[in-house]
Amino acid sequence: MRVLVVVESLFGNTHAIARAVAERLREDGAEVEVVDAASAGPRLDGADLVLAGAPTHNLGLPTDRSRASAVDRGAQPVSSGLREWIGALEASSTPVVTFATKVEGRFSGSASKAAAKLLRRRGLSAQQGTDFVVAGTAGPLTEGETDRAREWATTLHT
Ligand SMILES: Cc1cc2nc3c(=O)[nH]c(=O)nc-3n(C[C@H](O)[C@H](O)[C@H](O)COP(=O)(O)O)c2cc1C
Repeated sequence: MRVLVVVESLFGNTHAIARAVAERLREDGAEVEVVDAASAGPRLDGADLVLAGAPTHNLGLPTDRSRASAVDRGAQPVSSGLREWIGALEASSTPVVTFATKVEGRFSGSASKAAAKLLRRRGLSAQQGTDFVVAGTAGPLTEGETDRAREWATTLHT
């Protein structure tokens, strides 16, 4: 199975989830590539499965404005993210499963839900996956979340 993991991450937590998922998938024999959303291409056809992850900003996907706000709080700037990548995607029948990070106890919106909705609106086959919890805006991931990511990876076999 060839898996492409496309990820946006301002403080590194969503990236850590992507790495944990990729590591587990590789252990199970998959060929996995992890790419930043800012540099991911518009074609999905080379992959059997695409995983798309982003941090939750304002109950949904990050925008230029919310990214600037993250940078004000010490995050690394990114030139674009998952929202823009989805906006430029070519039509494909490759299934996409979304994931996100969010702060525990906040409202119910999440980047994984928003990304799945946006992908479906563009005609792609998308499913909302799982959200992983961070302790605060900059992280860290709460205890056990990296293990939960590895476990989640085992449910993704096609
Ligand atoms: C501008 C901004 C808005 C945010 N809004 C939300 C939110 O609506 N819900 C939530 O659970 N977390 C929110 N957060 C916290 C992020 O989800 C958290 O920074 C992110 O999960 C960290 O992931 P990263 O290290 O990959 O950037 C927000 C963070 C920022 C910077």
